[in-house]
Amino acid sequence: MKRIGVLTSGGDAPGMNSAIRAVVRKSIYNGIEVIGINRGYSGFIEGDMWPMSLGSVADIIHRGGTILHTARSKEFMTKEGKAKAYENAKRFGIEGLVVIGGDGSFKGALEFYKEYKLPVIGVPGTIDNDIYGTDYTIGFDTAVNNVVDAINKIRDTATSHERTFIIEVMGRDCGAIALMAGLAGGAESIIIPEVPFDINEICEKLMRGVKRGKLHSMIVVAEGAASGLEIGRKIKEITGADTKVTILGHIQRGGIPTAFDRMFAARLGAKAVDLLIAGEAGKAVGIRKEEIVGYDLQEIFENKKQLDLGVLELANILSI
Ligand code: F6P
Repeated sequence: MKRIGVLTSGGDAPGMNSAIRAVVRKSIYNGIEVIGINRGYSGFIEGDMWPMSLGSVADIIHRGGTILHTARSKEFMTKEGKAKAYENAKRFGIEGLVVIGGDGSFKGALEFYKEYKLPVIGVPGTIDNDIYGTDYTIGFDTAVNNVVDAINKIRDTATSHERTFIIEVMGRDCGAIALMAGLAGGAESIIIPEVPFDINEICEKLMRGVKRGKLHSMIVVAEGAASGLEIGRKIKEITGADTKVTILGHIQRGGIPTAFDRMFAARLGAKAVDLLIAGEAGKAVGIRKEEIVGYDLQEIFENKKQLDLGVLELANILSI
């Protein structure tokens, strides 16, 4: 293999830059040239691509976002879009492709591989941690830390005013961010799409807490489970508590990636290059019980990642 392409696609995730850096430097170390593809599949279709050097990835390991920019391309989902991208792959002499992104990006990568047989390796980069086959995805740890940081700040004002706060967090259809940030942030209740909830039970717990002297309550809601505003309105209606809602939004996805995300992304980016060199294709890389692994992209679409619901039980016990 003489030349590979790398792109980031879908929602950006802190740590993606560390993965790009690893792909570029591990490739060049092995005598492989790297073409950076801007704006994900959109740039691939348009031929917005450039040769990357060792220096082009200097000073990015600590930066959030992605230096290659990202997009959610509708055109790549079409046959014509993929055909245009393949023309550009040939024009730039690309013999392998590393796609850093979430499950939507992986779906496109697998279809592209099946159609054109261009070896593709997926690197899981999404704050949602919803990709089957890997314990973590790049950006999840930073996002959880961002949420916990916000909860810490909200606690100060919540205690002062003796208020109930509803904190809505991202995650699309997955409750992983809410679950882990809720546990780490000491939330009274965590509402996630994977488990049905009863608003009356949540209110009863809240009132029991007030009775035994709790000065504030934190309820973390995953965006895929319910609207934070709606939950806030109902809780106020049922309990009469002074209730405020904070929707954390995109601040969860920004900022300096944690050391974990940087280390993890570096290892995954390097593994993706190893797999291409070994002649592997149509695979994803991930981490299982501390071991960096490669597995078929197809598996991701045949299975659903399960949350450890024991964590929810624990969070509920610890916040009685
Ligand atoms: O997939 C990452 C994510 O941040 C989700 O948690 C969220 O639902 C979505 O992207 C938001 O997308 P956008 O940035 O396009 O609004």
